[in-house]
Amino acid sequence: MPAAIAHDPATRTWLLTTRRTGYALRIDERGVPRHLHWGGPLTLAQAVSLPLAGTKWRSSFEGLAAAEEELTVDGGNRYGPPALRVRFADGTRALTWQADGHEQPDPATLLLHFTDPHYPLRTTLGYRVHPDTDVIERWTALTHTGKADDILVLRADSATLSLPPRDHYRLSHAVGLWAAETQLKREPLPFGETVLTSRTGTTSHQAQPWAILDAGDANEGWADETQGQVWSAALAWSGSWQLTLHRTPDNRLSLSAGAGHDAVTVALRPGETHTTPPVLALYTPAGGFGGLSRAWHAHLRAKVLPHADETRPVLYNSWEATGFSVTLENQSRLAAHAAALGVELFVMDDGWFGARRDDHAGLGDWAPYPGAFPAGLRPLADEVHRLGMAFGLWVEPEMVNPDSDLYRARPDWVLHFPHRARTELRNQLVLNFARPDVAEWAHSRLTRLVAENDVDYLKWDMNRPFSEAGWPDEPSGRGDRLWFDYVRNYHSVLDRLRADHPRLRIEACSGGGGRVDPAVLARTDQVWVSDNTDAADRLVIQQGYTQVYPVRTMAAWVTDVPNQQTGRSIPLRFRFHSAMSGVLGVGGDLTRWQPAELKEAEQLIAEYKAVRHVVQHGDLFRLRPPGDLQSVSAVQYVTPEAAETVAFGWLPQPRFGLRPAPLRLAGLDRDARYRDTRTGELHYGAALAERGLDLQLPSEDWASTMVHLIRT
Ligand code: DGJ
Repeated sequence: MPAAIAHDPATRTWLLTTRRTGYALRIDERGVPRHLHWGGPLTLAQAVSLPLAGTKWRSSFEGLAAAEEELTVDGGNRYGPPALRVRFADGTRALTWQADGHEQPDPATLLLHFTDPHYPLRTTLGYRVHPDTDVIERWTALTHTGKADDILVLRADSATLSLPPRDHYRLSHAVGLWAAETQLKREPLPFGETVLTSRTGTTSHQAQPWAILDAGDANEGWADETQGQVWSAALAWSGSWQLTLHRTPDNRLSLSAGAGHDAVTVALRPGETHTTPPVLALYTPAGGFGGLSRAWHAHLRAKVLPHADETRPVLYNSWEATGFSVTLENQSRLAAHAAALGVELFVMDDGWFGARRDDHAGLGDWAPYPGAFPAGLRPLADEVHRLGMAFGLWVEPEMVNPDSDLYRARPDWVLHFPHRARTELRNQLVLNFARPDVAEWAHSRLTRLVAENDVDYLKWDMNRPFSEAGWPDEPSGRGDRLWFDYVRNYHSVLDRLRADHPRLRIEACSGGGGRVDPAVLARTDQVWVSDNTDAADRLVIQQGYTQVYPVRTMAAWVTDVPNQQTGRSIPLRFRFHSAMSGVLGVGGDLTRWQPAELKEAEQLIAEYKAVRHVVQHGDLFRLRPPGDLQSVSAVQYVTPEAAETVAFGWLPQPRFGLRPAPLRLAGLDRDARYRDTRTGELHYGAALAERGLDLQLPSEDWASTMVHLIRT
């Protein structure tokens, strides 16, 4: 394997190499970092031979294309969307590059330094190469090297990434809203600028901070789920963000991504450094969207998730069963039922604290409600532990109800503007986590809560976006910083809690999947993907979620029917199979389940435990996407070395007499024989790939099945 980073000093060309990809750039004669290549591997000599784009004649009306630079700046003859835009104290906006050396703190990290020839600004482009997973991380650091006057940073993206010139480009991304997150969209990319963004202060339900691009030309058509080359980027940031695509008529495409949305600025003080979060870039040369997803999952599992090798337990959550009306008695009853089913982690959701009888009061007062827990939470924690389960607790540390002791004592702790009403959403306001005292308070309450009650697991929720995002008495008068400092403190409270309690596991939740991104995945153990627990809707949400994020983090519960969100009544088995294709949980009111349902649930949980190592840690193949209700959708998981595989198939509305075609399995050893653990039947890998597996779906509505094959 060649070096991760190679350098040709004569041409100032850099080549970054991973197992399957190459990335090249050059600092040109004016000191501008120029993009050369992102795609398949090259040798250094080949990278050196690449011409810089746009060196030929161009008319006086054409600026430098964004796709030509490693970070598009505002200044000179550039008319595309700037990834870096600053304003110096005298009003000058144009930024000029001047190369100022490089560092390689380790063999896989490259820092390219630039100094402005006149103003006191040092810009560093950071590159971290992950040779084994094909990911290249990029970020930007801006340092005010002067002694006077702030520099106003109007936009600081982490990086600009450029694709090779192609005739056509297509964008895959995920949009959504509450209870309908991660809806995958795949559409031709229009010419001009396309902006994906969140202005909510969080990653958001509405858009995911990643983009997947494929390209077509006369030589090669579009990628699909199984074949073709694909480029992608994901931003590791849990606040507002912006991802700007710029496609020009001369077939160039650039993508810039960074924290903060339009109009959020950073005033850089003398001596200060502003470091952007990393954007992760991943190109896969073959294998299409499925191959790209597996590459993302492999990277996130290997480099990002804490305890990635741990198998997530089967969880019970009380929310849909008891809502806010939790008591020691009803939770103990649910816990007893859950334990009997084989549940391993019992989580009490909202309602256990302060004056929280509904969503009008109590948020911020993190002491147990004595009317429901007269002796505190310890008796419930002890009971759950006695039943052999881990004990989990819901919290929403960033929020406060105006009707709370905390708000009465600290009305200045919320985001607000002095002359504006404080917009309440779900009767709550956002605590200003950018304030060090607020973050400190949250950490001390949580760490005490965990220690005093023997809490094994926290579900950290956040149920509204920002509004009136001000901090009027911010000591430095630079209120916009709260958009960044809020997120940094959210991350650091999570980091501190994990350090305080190494056995503590954390679920990320924001009204379902409103805050999931690689930075959240680095600090939590699983994600509550959506408040929509309808088993059919969930298949669509899971299809979008798994484009980038691994199954090992994708929590799903089996809840009651009719479903609380959709009113749909889907049989228990289908509901289980849908949830079993992720990290299985149960969220129904078990005290009302019939004995036959409890028995079936117990059996399905046992079946899940027998296959979950494959589901949670295996490679995912999305064999047939969820689409119309009369087609089979199917996913498959394969362990390393193709030793075991699990497939799920769902058919909501079979057509009378028409049997679905056999399911052709992927990723298996063609010469090996596989035994079906349920029927004992033996199948050659080649036969499963060529002819496929008869799914034996019952010919009734909401048919579903799970197949587990082990190599003999
Ligand atoms: C939103 C979450 O997504 C739900 O699961 C539940 O925890 C509620 N909040 C509680 O208020």
